[in-house]
Amino acid sequence: MSTAEFVVVANRLPVDRDADGGWRPSPGGLVAALEPVMRKADGAWVGWAGKPDLELEPFDNDGMHLVPITLTADDVEQYYEGFSNDTIWPLYHDVIAAPRYRRAWWESYVSVNERFADAAASVAAQGATVWVQDYQLQLVPRLLRERRPDLTIGYFHHIPFPAYGLYAQLPWRRQVLEGLLGADVIGFQRVADAGNFARAVRRQLRYETKASGIRVPEADGGSRLALAKAFPISIDAELYVELAQREDIRARAAEIRAELGNPKKILLGVDRLDYTKGIRHRMKAFGELLEDGRLSVEDVTLVQVASPSRERVGPYMQLRDEIELTVGRINGDYDTMGHTAIRYLHQAFPREEMVALYLAADVMLVTALRDGMNLVAKEYVASRVDNRGVLVLSEFAGAADELGSALLINPHDIGGLKNTIERAVHMPGAEQGRRMRALRRRVREHDVEAWSQDFLAALDEASHAGGHR
Ligand code: G6P
Repeated sequence: MSTAEFVVVANRLPVDRDADGGWRPSPGGLVAALEPVMRKADGAWVGWAGKPDLELEPFDNDGMHLVPITLTADDVEQYYEGFSNDTIWPLYHDVIAAPRYRRAWWESYVSVNERFADAAASVAAQGATVWVQDYQLQLVPRLLRERRPDLTIGYFHHIPFPAYGLYAQLPWRRQVLEGLLGADVIGFQRVADAGNFARAVRRQLRYETKASGIRVPEADGGSRLALAKAFPISIDAELYVELAQREDIRARAAEIRAELGNPKKILLGVDRLDYTKGIRHRMKAFGELLEDGRLSVEDVTLVQVASPSRERVGPYMQLRDEIELTVGRINGDYDTMGHTAIRYLHQAFPREEMVALYLAADVMLVTALRDGMNLVAKEYVASRVDNRGVLVLSEFAGAADELGSALLINPHDIGGLKNTIERAVHMPGAEQGRRMRALRRRVREHDVEAWSQDFLAALDEASHAGGHR
């Protein structure tokens, strides 16, 4: 069996198996961010192909060596839909939905994490670097260290890490912290997430923490140093710049505007259909602006792309019903024969179409109630090579820490959100340009390559310096 010097372990492979046995890109920001990193590193990627009971041999795809993990229908239900997305996801997003604590789901989470650790252990070369990703695999760092003490192990947490008062609800709070602390470096999106993690470690495990360092006791009576720090993730900014300059994509942007009836302004929302994204708050604000007569469907259309996500998990089914009811009501009340209030698309689109949409949109609405980073905000900014367009961005998205030149909003404050949307719609070109230039500078300087280099440099250093004491 061939081994790799660099291994990524994530719940999903970068490609998903589709209904007719082909491959399509996997959903979400994690894969979008890591793919370009992996392509350069020439390593192996351990993950699930997105369908239950699929047994596949390792294979090469688009310059990457992919190592598929089989999840049975039962694993999908308990480890993925249950513990990952009905326990951890809502808990870590500040209980916007109520987390469900089921012992059987936890058992399944443990055993699937073991399976990922086994696969990573068998594909990693002696002394290799293994980079574990996200909340579905929080136990893998420690399991992997037990199996392969020779490895350098990094972990990156793509979603928020909650305040201790919430984290403390988790019945398995110690095991999860111990699992994560198997890594040499534990990366978070925001400084606040790293702080919340360090506090949980102090409160639960009583380990000593100093600046970003955590002293982790070991079985032999010694200890090692783990680093818990913020490394805000980013996108392949140059790729978006190139796409945004392509003639066919610019033509498509104009075509989209025409297809929508050439409204004066297009507002855009792009999200996985998830209750953390604040899609209802956005629609409520927009609907009220129409009701108040502050905006009119003759002039303004909201395009909402909501890509299907986790469709068998209870709160996601409910959310879909609520959103579709809201869209129907708003459109029913305000549409005319020629104009629609909300163009709602429950679909996923290829990247080219997304860039055309970004170019067509005058105002991008990112109203997340809680979001690890939100890469859509960065994609919009990178695509605006014309230095036009307005980003309305929630303070509760990690991206707000870096993108201070956006119009920052509190999505819970509907009155404030309405005022900001109105301001964005009427913002003069000069102010748009000033803000957009500052946003673009940040995203282009701090792209996904800089992110992975920062993380991997810290990992390299920690693995040399961290050692035993
Ligand atoms: C977020 C998570 C990722 C996840 C993605 C898509 O970006 O941080 O770990 O892969 O959502 O969700 P899904 O459940 O479809 O993998």
